[in-house]
Amino acid sequence: MSETVLLVGGGGREHAIARALAEDVTLYACAANRNPGIAGLATAFKQLDETDPDAVVAYAEAVDATLAVVGPEAPLAEGVADALDEAGIYAFAPQSTEARIETDKGFQREFLEKHEIPGNPAFEVFSDDEAACAFIDEYDGDLAVKPAGLTGGKGVKVIGDQCTPEEAKAYIRENDYERIVLEERLVGEEFTVQAFVANGEYRVTPAIQDHKRAYEGDEGPNTGGMGSYSDATFELPFMTEDDYTAAVEILDAVVAALDGYKGILYGQFMLTAEGPKIVEFNARFGDPEAMNTLPVLETPFVDVITAARDGEPLPSLEFADEATVCKYAVPEGYPTDPKSGALVAIDEESAGDALLFYASVDAREDGIYTTTSRSFAVVGVADTITEAEAIAEEALEKAGEEGLRSRHDIGKADLLKQRVDHMAELRGETRVE
Ligand code: AMP
Ligand code: GLY
Repeated sequence: MSETVLLVGGGGREHAIARALAEDVTLYACAANRNPGIAGLATAFKQLDETDPDAVVAYAEAVDATLAVVGPEAPLAEGVADALDEAGIYAFAPQSTEARIETDKGFQREFLEKHEIPGNPAFEVFSDDEAACAFIDEYDGDLAVKPAGLTGGKGVKVIGDQCTPEEAKAYIRENDYERIVLEERLVGEEFTVQAFVANGEYRVTPAIQDHKRAYEGDEGPNTGGMGSYSDATFELPFMTEDDYTAAVEILDAVVAALDGYKGILYGQFMLTAEGPKIVEFNARFGDPEAMNTLPVLETPFVDVITAARDGEPLPSLEFADEATVCKYAVPEGYPTDPKSGALVAIDEESAGDALLFYASVDAREDGIYTTTSRSFAVVGVADTITEAEAIAEEALEKAGEEGLRSRHDIGKADLLKQRVDHMAELRGETRVE
């Protein structure tokens, strides 16, 4: 029997999920924004408030969904997966209590500590701004300042990297967040490993490096993620197999500690001189990382989610031995002062060899326009990172630069070399020129 799947969410990540499912299932989709890429793949697309559990369940019931996949974190925080499960529609996504591993960074650190998960940095949680500021004054070393709640990846400030201690304190006082997590600044190279999780089992996917900073050379404010790359192996060029294995051991410990978790568990790690440390966990696919993972996943995604629902062993995953490079085009001024309304002059055909994933765009009668969030991503898939990068760049050129901006450095040989050299330096190894 063919499954009827409701996909919740309308970003680039969800476009990649839609593409991974569309051929094998009857697909319906809903989101606050009408994503033209998803709408083109789905039997029907309904615009609704994706964080409203009742609205999502009503649509899932109306289309007789047998399964649901929830992409973004906001619906998870609001209990959309709980409501779907209660209505008898299995959601491949964690319920709100389980999603707290992402939605509450204070809970996250305390949970990791309680379960003695390796790689958890030193941290303190504050509900009083002045106590947090006093801690910054007293602490010997740099700290990362994190609002405990969801901020779309844009709320973290790292002292010694993005700001001074004084600026960090001003940030805390200005925003008056309910709770603030202060944690040891980790130094190294970041990477992501995502796992499919259900019924106490998990299956891991290749490592990916995202680029959070807005501008080339890792300058500027944090964004939702400007682009990302993965290699033809499970590791990245600056990592060893042992580094990857150490990250999987951390994921293994977290899955064992989580009770009843289902969906994607996203581990963000800092590869330090002492091995991988935990930057954070998310309760969903990364965006952009889903656009690296799903195009090379050869096992049908539907097989994973039906096995999860039916309590069967998860299939072992097959991946193409190919590298991927994903680059986002974002509106001029993003993320601090984004200008919307530029025409998006690219479609799936003109993207050439690259895959095109739409994100926050406004599909009008006369064309597709940018909004104030990330607009679309192009993904090159090839034998090497360098070839995949060239494919992504070719597509960006076709899209033109008017009103849009990208990070052209992502996946380029120079940047890869810098990452490798950085790790070698941290580990005290001699550089190989
Ligand atoms: P998050 O929202 O937790 O992913 O944080 C956003 C970004 O801030 C991460 O991708 C890192 O680049 C940086 N970051 C977060 N926590 C730390 C930390 N403890 N040390 C250094 N950088 C961090
Ligand atoms: N790529 C970072 C995130 O999805 O949170």
